[in-house]
Amino acid sequence: MRSPEGQQQKDVRVLLIGGGAREHTIAEALCRGGRTDLLTVSRNDNPGLAALSRKMACHDERDVRWISEWAREQAVDLAVIGLEDPLEVGLPDALDLAGIPTVGPMRQAARLETSKLFTRDLMRKYDIPGQVEYHYFTDPHALRRFLRAADREFALKPVGLTAGKGVKVMGLQLHSVEDAIEYGQAVIQGRIGGAAGVVVEERLIGEEFTLQTFVDGHTVLPMPLVKDYKRAFEGDEGPNTGSMGSYSQADGLLPFVTERQRDEALGILRRVTEGLRSEGCPYRGVMYGQFMMTDEGAKLIEINARFGDPEATNVLPLLENDLVDVCHAIIGGTLEDLDLRFARKATVCKYVTPPGYPLQPRVAVKLGLDRTRIESLGVKVFFAKVNGTDAEVLTTTSRSIALVGVADTVDEAEQSVEQALAYVHGEYHVRRDIGKRHLVERRLDRAAVVASR
Ligand code: AMP
Ligand code: GLY
Repeated sequence: MRSPEGQQQKDVRVLLIGGGAREHTIAEALCRGGRTDLLTVSRNDNPGLAALSRKMACHDERDVRWISEWAREQAVDLAVIGLEDPLEVGLPDALDLAGIPTVGPMRQAARLETSKLFTRDLMRKYDIPGQVEYHYFTDPHALRRFLRAADREFALKPVGLTAGKGVKVMGLQLHSVEDAIEYGQAVIQGRIGGAAGVVVEERLIGEEFTLQTFVDGHTVLPMPLVKDYKRAFEGDEGPNTGSMGSYSQADGLLPFVTERQRDEALGILRRVTEGLRSEGCPYRGVMYGQFMMTDEGAKLIEINARFGDPEATNVLPLLENDLVDVCHAIIGGTLEDLDLRFARKATVCKYVTPPGYPLQPRVAVKLGLDRTRIESLGVKVFFAKVNGTDAEVLTTTSRSIALVGVADTVDEAEQSVEQALAYVHGEYHVRRDIGKRHLVERRLDRAAVVASR
């Protein structure tokens, strides 16, 4: 086993799946304690992961058979799944058969993310708070009749995975009932998201927030709340993306979410965890809840079966426990005994993306960066879907580099990221307004309007 300058024995061999900024962040947290011998599987040559991994296999992250065989050959102790695709195809199930425990739910439990209909049905069956009105259509004519008669606004969602780009909302991306009918029919007929059906949900109005939790089948422990910005352009305009950035406050709450409201949201994820146990598919891994704070309280928008990207970059740099210990507790069912702690710091993440992102991202654009200068500002660099070295990367069609400021206040964290951007050279697209006071406060005004209704 490699051990730098022979100082410390690396006693836990961890396999990490995925090659984005989220996985770079997870890798950094796994290696912080100096015990992890890291192996990675990803499709791109992420320089951040390359620096932390002893071995890096450039391979399809959905290739269950190859990954589980490689993991066995390499005598891996445990695996951590960063992204959703391997969950959909049951990589944790295959690793379990190979005797490798995994942080990431088995296929049946991962349906929370891979089937929006499964989650809604589960919440209805177990009478869990935070539900929304929803309908499922497989017949385009029935969908058309329903939308024409309803005279209300809805969100239309493919059932399965669409990399965060499949949901369209009436009044936002869909400008009329006819637009909604056309999109719903396209989803059904084109089997977008893998099923010939579309979920139609009441349109929620309010402010969105993310609550990530660690789950060991029984116990659900919360991480600090994060506010994520999915829209491509400043002022929250333009198409939805995987996300352009995010922020979190030092107290772990958000300007529009109180502790009581956070606990309500946490209660929903606890009930979902119980429901899954009753269904015979206990959940082990990270459970990500996306909520809308409405005038009727927190409503669930969706659940993901992994860390958020970029929300992982907001919370993991603050984790005071060794992530390896947290992984062992998830696998061993002992989270209840863990004293989970996060530093009381604010964070702001801004994603550097290729020029033209998200509609016409330019590939192989060179971005230079001075990592030492950036880090001297207290800003962390997490590489995303790029290839290259620490000092120079080439863009792909996805996001490139997450810059994460960590400071006492959101303002200070935001300003440090702005200063850091001066040390990223080349052409790129970034949302400068993320974490800026005017955007945060505009959201507060809107939340106040919601609260006073
Ligand atoms: P999702 O892929 O489910 O995270 O949805 C993407 C985005 O669509 C969310 O971040 C929300 O902004 C929006 N969205 C999803 N469901 C609803 C809903 N029922 N009402 C309003 N907006 C929604
Ligand atoms: N930030 C949204 C996601 O990770 O799905």
